[in-house]
Amino acid sequence: MQLKECVFIDGVRTANARAHAEKGWFKQVKPDQTLAAVYKALFERNPKVKPEDVDTVIVGTANPSGMQNDIGRLAWLAHGYPERTASQTVSNQCPSGMTATINAARAIMTGEADIMIAAGVEDMEKVPMGANMAFPDKFMERYYILDIPMGNTAEKVAALYNISRADQENMAVHSHKCAYAATTSGKFKNEIVPVMGKDDAGNDLLVDKDQWVRESLDPAQMATMKTPFKPDGTVTAATSSPLTAGAAALLMMSREKADELGLSYTYKYKFGVQEGNDPTIMGMGPAVCIDKLLKKTGVNKEDIGAVEMNEAFAAQALACIRETGIDKPNAPFEKVNLWGGAIALGHPLGESGARIIVTLLNVLKNEKPDAKYGIATLCGGFGNGVAVMIEKV
Ligand SMILES: CC(C)(COP(=O)(O)OP(=O)(O)OC[C@H]1O[C@@H](n2cnc3c(N)ncnc32)[C@H](O)[C@@H]1OP(=O)(O)O)[C@@H](O)C(=O)NCCC(=O)NCCS
Repeated sequence: MQLKECVFIDGVRTANARAHAEKGWFKQVKPDQTLAAVYKALFERNPKVKPEDVDTVIVGTANPSGMQNDIGRLAWLAHGYPERTASQTVSNQCPSGMTATINAARAIMTGEADIMIAAGVEDMEKVPMGANMAFPDKFMERYYILDIPMGNTAEKVAALYNISRADQENMAVHSHKCAYAATTSGKFKNEIVPVMGKDDAGNDLLVDKDQWVRESLDPAQMATMKTPFKPDGTVTAATSSPLTAGAAALLMMSREKADELGLSYTYKYKFGVQEGNDPTIMGMGPAVCIDKLLKKTGVNKEDIGAVEMNEAFAAQALACIRETGIDKPNAPFEKVNLWGGAIALGHPLGESGARIIVTLLNVLKNEKPDAKYGIATLCGGFGNGVAVMIEKV
C-alpha cells in the first residue's frame, strides 16, 4: 500500500491559564469551552473546510474523568457540531494530545480518512492530576509508590543525571525570557485564540496571552524557594511546569485533499514514535524517543532546525537535551523551545502534546524557515515518551 502524505493546514490554541480556583483566568471556563474555542477558530480561519467534512476529531486528555470524561465526543456534540463526524478521546498522560496527532496522521496516511482534527485539552483545577486514581495492587508491588509522583521522578532524574539546581534555575530563567519576548513581540498572535475569562477580581478579561509568563525571574529569590517534592531536593515551583488549563487543535489533511480544496500548507507529518521507559524516571522519555525517531527516519540531528521539548520539569528536559546532544548542555539554547517552554507557558497535561506541535509549526516558519525538519516531544507519567518529526514540503 502506498502511504499518503499528511499535511498540517492550521493549528491554534488558547492561552494557557493558571489552574487556580481564585487566580486562574479560566476559573469559570470549562474544558469543553476551551476546546470549542479552538474548533471555532479552525473553521473560521479555514472556511473551505466544513465541520461535516471532518472524518474524525481525536482529543487527548490526561485525566478523562469528571468534566473531561470522553470530552472528545461530548464537547463536539455540546457545541453543535455534526453527529456524523466521529469524535473520541485518547489518553496516555501528558503525551495525549500528541498521541491524538499521531493517530490522526496515521488515519490520513493509510487513506482511512481525508480530513482530521487532532486536539488536546486539560483543566488541572477542575479535573486535578490523578483524579479518581487507584493503582493496581500488582503495580504497587512492582514499584515503590513514592517514586511515582511526577515531581519525585524529576528529583530522581536530577540526582541520577547530575542536573544541579543552578542549571535548572538557569533554564527556568531562559524559558521565561524567551516566552516573554515571544509574547510581547506578538509571535503567539497566529496561534492563540482569545477566550473571555475572569481576572482575580472577577471582572471579564479577554485572555490572549499565557498567564504564567514572567517578565523576569529573580535568581536570588528563586534560590531560596522550597523544594516541595523532597526535603533536600533541587526541584522547586520555579523549575516545574505550573498547574494550568488550556486547549489546542490541529487541522490535518491528505495532501491531495488539501490540493483539491486549494488550501496552502508548509509542513507535513513525517514520523511519530512512542517508547516506554522506567516510570520512576519518566522524564527521560524524550531522550529515548528522539534517539528512536532519528534512527527510524535516518535524519541527522544536525538537520533538525527546531525542537519543542515539553518542560515538565527543568531537570528532565535538561537531562534529555544532554543525553541526546540535540542542543547545548545549558540554556540559552539554539534549537530547543525558542519561544519558551512549559515552565513559563504552562503545561495543561493532555493539551501540551498538541500545543507544542502548533508552536513548532510557527517557530519553524518564523525562526528557521530554511530548516527541513522539526521535532516535538514530551514525557509521560508512568513512562510513556512520545515524539513526532515534521518536514517542510
Ligand atoms: C511545583 C508545584 C507543586 C507548585 O505548586 P503550588 O505549591 O501550588 O505552587 P504555585 O505553582 O501555585 O506557586 C506557588 C507560589 O510560588 C510562586 N512562584 C512560582 N514560580 C515562581 C518563580 N519563578 N519566582 C517567584 N515566585 C514563583 C507562585 O506565583 C505562587 O505564588 P502566588 O500564588 O502568590 O502567585 C506544582 O506547580 C506542580 O506540581 N507542578 C508540576 C505539575 C506536574 O507534575 N505536571 C506533570 C508533569 S509530567
